[in-house]
Amino acid sequence: MNIIGIESSCDDTCVAVFAKKSEIIFERKVSQLAIHKRFGGVVPELAARAHVDNFAPLLYELKKNGYLDEAFRVAVTYGPGLAASLSLGVAFAHTLAAMFRADMCGVNHLRGHAFSPFMSIFPVRIEDFFPHLGLLVSGGNTILFEIHDGFEINVIAETVDDAAGEAFDKGAKLLGLMYPGGPEIEKLAKDAERGRFKFPRAFFGKNEMKFSFSGLKTSLRYMLENITDDDVFAKELPSICASYESALVEPLVNKVAVALACKKYNSMGVSGGVSNNLLLRNKLIELARASETMLLLPKLKHSEDNAAMIAFAAHIDRAHTVADVRNFDASLKICN
Ligand code: KG4
Repeated sequence: MNIIGIESSCDDTCVAVFAKKSEIIFERKVSQLAIHKRFGGVVPELAARAHVDNFAPLLYELKKNGYLDEAFRVAVTYGPGLAASLSLGVAFAHTLAAMFRADMCGVNHLRGHAFSPFMSIFPVRIEDFFPHLGLLVSGGNTILFEIHDGFEINVIAETVDDAAGEAFDKGAKLLGLMYPGGPEIEKLAKDAERGRFKFPRAFFGKNEMKFSFSGLKTSLRYMLENITDDDVFAKELPSICASYESALVEPLVNKVAVALACKKYNSMGVSGGVSNNLLLRNKLIELARASETMLLLPKLKHSEDNAAMIAFAAHIDRAHTVADVRNFDASLKICN
């Protein structure tokens, strides 16, 4: 039967329908960007209030399109994420399940991201692509992991401080750019000189499997303190963005290369909002070619937070869904 996916772990209110025929037949996202933009980041209290407003119209759309008239299961993100935002999605899912006597399950948001690259090749036997090397890069997480038999996930490397997306957003804020910072920095960096400004690359080239981005952000702050002339700043901004973007992307690609050198993977993938970054995508394409590893790239709309990946994960990763969703869990790990 159809699966109605619900995602509200942060600032996007999303619903999707995954059909029996193994495809996403409906998906809607209500973005809260306009609300959070002026604060330079997501304000949890405002995000929760906006979810309350946004779920009602999405419910009517599901109804209008007839998706509530036939039997369905409900799959909801139950963690990790912002506690109040998660709890609203879980409450919405419970309401649907109770009203329509539908089964309901909880999906780990990170596992949703981890399997999203497979949406681009489904329906196939996903196990044939294991062991799979995955890079999850979002506003809250930077995790290199592998998926192997039984859909089990092993973490290979994680950030010890800021996530990659957080480093993009905080860097953009220092540069006076809008939130979310990743796309803003990427836009300005396009065609600009990359090596002009020197930024640190933590754990680069070493076999120490960790990421760290807080030093990068601090070094940007010190560098900006030395540029006191507004005209110089305006002239150099594109090169600063390009150099900063490279310093963020290169350590990510470096650790993927180290992992590929250690083991043969049947496929690799990338997911999370930062995976929309073209420099990152292109470098991973090069790496996949050089290592003769199949690269799975989710559609741009399925890289960011979305409900399609939640419905999809509920279908393929059934063993790891949680049947009894009486609560949400803001601190879940990708392995759970
Ligand atoms: O997965 P996601 O939509 O949600 C959260 O983690 O909440 O990721 C959002 C993050 C933000 O930090 C944003 O700046 C970053 O993804 N992002 C990008 C790009 N598009 C979104 N970073 C770099 N380049 C992009 N094109």
